[in-house]
This record gives sequence, C-alpha cells and structure tokens, in this order.
Amino acid sequence: MILSAVSGVLFGHRKGWWYSIWNKLQFFWSTDVRELKKQTGELENKLNRVRDAFGEDNNLWLRQPIIRPERYDARIRRSIPILLIANLKGGVGKTTIAANLAAYFETKRNERVLAIDIDHQGSLSSMLLPEPLNRQERAGRSVRALLEGSKDGYSTFEAISESCPVRDSKRDSRVVDCDDPFADLETQLALKWLIGDIIGDIRYNFARVLHSDEIQRNFQRVIIDAPPRITTGFINALCASTHLVVPFVLDRLSAERVGQSLERIRRMKGQLFPHLELAGVVGTMKGNRTASLRDAERESIAEAKRAVSRSWGYGDFVLEQALIPRTQAIADAAGVRIVYPQATEIFDPLGDEIFRRVPGCTPLRPVARALRGNGDASRFADSPVARL
Ligand SMILES: Nc1ncnc2c1ncn2[C@@H]1O[C@H](COP(=O)(O)OP(=O)(O)OP(=O)(O)O)[C@@H](O)[C@H]1O
Ligand SMILES: [Mg+2]
Repeated sequence: MILSAVSGVLFGHRKGWWYSIWNKLQFFWSTDVRELKKQTGELENKLNRVRDAFGEDNNLWLRQPIIRPERYDARIRRSIPILLIANLKGGVGKTTIAANLAAYFETKRNERVLAIDIDHQGSLSSMLLPEPLNRQERAGRSVRALLEGSKDGYSTFEAISESCPVRDSKRDSRVVDCDDPFADLETQLALKWLIGDIIGDIRYNFARVLHSDEIQRNFQRVIIDAPPRITTGFINALCASTHLVVPFVLDRLSAERVGQSLERIRRMKGQLFPHLELAGVVGTMKGNRTASLRDAERESIAEAKRAVSRSWGYGDFVLEQALIPRTQAIADAAGVRIVYPQATEIFDPLGDEIFRRVPGCTPLRPVARALRGNGDASRFADSPVARL
C-alpha cells in the first residue's frame, strides 16, 4: 500500500511536474550555453550604448565612430551654399527669416532655391506650400527620403520628386515639407543607430543627398529651417550645411543664448562638420523700424558680439546693418505666407549681406524640366534626376 502511494505521488498527480522537469533538462541539453552568453552580451552592449549615449555631457551625437560619406570633404567644399538657419532658443524668427530669404534669393538673385523644413511643427512648410497643401495633413515623403537615406541610391530622386513647388515661385523653387510624423522617424532612427541596428552613419544622410550631383546641378542654394532643439534632422543639417545663420531677438537674454547655441554646435564641429562656417548673427524684432536703436537693443548687440567671440571666435559676425524690425505684417504672416514681396526693404539688406558673404558658385541655368510637377515619377523620365 505504501509503495503504491509513493508511486502514485511520483507518477500520478505529479506526472505534470516530472514532464516539466524533463522538458527543462531537454532544453538545457539542446541549448548552446556559449550562444546564450553571446546573445546576452550583445543585449547588454546595446543597453550600455543607449545608457552611455545619455551621459552627463549630453552629447549622444559624438558617441559612435564617424563614417563620413565618400568624398565628403571635396563635395562640401565645392557645394552650392547650404544655409542652415538655427538657434536653439525658440521663437527668435528662424522660420520667418528662412522663408523670406528663400523668396529674396529667388526674386532678387534669380536663384532656384531648395527650402527644407526639418521642424515637425511645419511652419516653414505652411508658409511656402501652395494652398490648399499648406493646410492639409502631409506625408512628408521628401523629408523622410532625406533622412532615411536609401541603399539603392534613390533617396535623392525621392527627395526631389516628392518635394513641392514653392507658392508663386517663378523659378520652380522647391520646398521639402515637414509634419508631425517626422519627429517619430527621427527618434526611431536615432535609437536604432545607437543600439547598432543600423549599419552606416545616419548623421550624414542629408549630406549624401544634398551634396549629390542632382541637387547641386538643379539648385543654386539650399535654405534649411532648423527646430529649436538638437534632433536627428538638426545633426544631419549641420553635417550637410556650408553656412550657419543665427537669428536672435534684440534683448539681453536672447543675445546670451546665441553664445550657448554656438558653443554647443562648436563642440561637435571639429569631429562632425569641420567645414561649417558662420555666415552671420541676425538681430530680429527691433522695436522701431525707422528710429535708432534703444539702449537695451544696443546693449544686446554688444552682448551678442561678446557671446559670439567667446563661443565661435573673433570676426565680423553680427550683422548690425541688417536688423529685422518687429512689424505687424510679419507677425500676421506667421505660418501662413511670406511677406517678402511687400517687405523687400526689410529683408533686402539682410539678403544682400548674406549674398555678399556667401555668394554661391553656380551659374544661372534654365529651369530644369526635371523639377516640374510634384510626386509623379513619370514626369522625371528624361531628367538627370531619373538617371540616378
Ligand atoms: N520681425 C518680426 N516682426 C513681428 N513678428 C515676428 C517677427 N519675426 C518673427 N515674428 C513672430 O514671432 C513668432 C516666432 O517667429 P518664428 O516662427 O519665425 O520663430 P522661430 O525661431 O522659427 O520659432 P521656433 O523656434 O518655434 O521654430 C511668430 O509668431 C512670428 O510671426
Ligand atoms: Mg521655426
């Protein structure tokens, strides 16, 4: 009776337990422990890379080895001007200046401009896109193509063919528009890159496209409107741009922040984008359009000069003769349209000064058939863009 009780316990209602032990033993024997250890090590590495990326100096963009695109130095040296309008302080007039400079270079300098919006708020897109595109939800395919890159080399084609004609453009200038989903793409891409799921250097994806022959042949100038924070798109824009334009509001706090923004950019410059030059620091929202500067405004310009020389180096960087006044017309146009045609006397001095400093190098060419239309690949069949 005792024997049957013991065997009942062992092989009866405990049968399931024995089975699970047996299964575990089988799994243990069939699993290669070394393989498991390797996989755990890899996962730990990925985790550490993400942890390190957000270390104290807050510079995840300098963490990984740098792999520049082929002939990066030569290409950027002979590139058309690529102007990045940036300041890590928000609301200082970056988008207003980017949009109106695009209009200036097209109208006054007869250039075909490629305007790129990399701020998911999409303000530049709303100002430059024709109605009703500017009010619709947009897929942002061209900015995606710029950032995601492409193994088969088609990202340049997509970036151009999916871009939109700038509203009322006479020279078929284009806008690469941006919308909310771009922010998710930026985060996704950065994380995949940090954990090593992306081979290649995502910091130079814009550079690969913007320095390509197709862009260089079809445009005379690129203007990029940056967001007020360091994002994947912003790093890409820094690595692809030839010049930086930094707007600031004519007050003391904003002037000090110019130094902080430039300092953060300069810390990455040597390693990531040694060619980037400062084209100018532009004072905006001058209180009175005609009257001379108020004391506080004069002081903010002096502070901006000090901040620039501390953070970037000595030079004639603050564009004192090209200040942008605060006007109702500019405020009313925010995120809706460009005021340039009615405000040439406001933006021309700035455009002229930037043109003097960054004249560009490409002679004027007729508008390429390649750039007509939007998003329709068949229209590009006989274009240089189609022969990528
Ligand atoms: N010269 C100006 N006169 C009057 N209003 C202006 C002027 N420049 C900019 N503004 C207004 O200030 C606000 C911020 O301008 P803008 O969007 O150009 O700044 P931003 O630096 O691009 O902002 P963000 O950092 O959010 O991208 C807008 O409402 C705009 O209309
Ligand atoms: Mg903006």
